[in-house]
Amino acid sequence: MRMTDFEIRRAIAADLPALAEIQQRSMRELASMSYETAQIAAFLEHGEAILSEIIEKANCWVAVAGPLVIGCAAWCRPGAISLSALPKRPTLPEAEIRSVHVRPGWTRRGVARRLLDRIEKDAAEASVLRLSLLSTLNGRAFYEALGFSATGEKKLKVDGLFMTGVAMTKQLEKSRSAA
Ligand SMILES: CC(C)(COP(=O)(O)OP(=O)(O)OC[C@H]1O[C@@H](n2cnc3c(N)ncnc32)[C@H](O)[C@@H]1OP(=O)(O)O)[C@@H](O)C(=O)NCCC(=O)NCCS
Repeated sequence: MRMTDFEIRRAIAADLPALAEIQQRSMRELASMSYETAQIAAFLEHGEAILSEIIEKANCWVAVAGPLVIGCAAWCRPGAISLSALPKRPTLPEAEIRSVHVRPGWTRRGVARRLLDRIEKDAAEASVLRLSLLSTLNGRAFYEALGFSATGEKKLKVDGLFMTGVAMTKQLEKSRSAA
């Protein structure tokens, strides 16, 4: 199998252990240049519980290469999932992007780009007009490459430790099928 062969499908409950592993490894190995070890550990303390909530209640997508899960990304309405960084009452039909992680060793092959393409289509079909998120500092260049704009830095308090993230947003085209 070539490293570019992968598919996008909806997450299922049985994906949880693989997604938890990818989240742990992507934060420890890919986000370690932006955060202290203690900050990453505090974030990961809640990681699996939040992923479980996301698989159950959000619109969660995974990338798979054969049997191997290599990435995930989800979207949900503001406030639907714990540790949301968005106001509960947005001014526009808005959704929040959560849990974007790619398995180390599979980065820079367009995995996250394909997941976000799927999310944008999915959200537009549900009449969402704006996607927002709190990006890790290391994730900012990725979102900018996909047309998101930074609106400022924000601090998220996790177990008494502050983690700085970048608030990012993108306006969506009105979906033809939703119009
Ligand atoms: C951020 C992350 C999801 C990107 O995943 P990815 O599959 O490697 O991203 P893609 O290959 O789809 O990248 C698409 C484009 O984004 C940009 N990009 C991606 N990663 C980048 C990086 N580390 N530095 C600069 N630009 C980057 C590039 O323009 C890239 O296109 P190119 O490879 O043709 O130059 C991945 O690095 C990751 O899991 N990081 C750790 C977890 C994290 O911080 N997630 C974000 C949470 S909000």
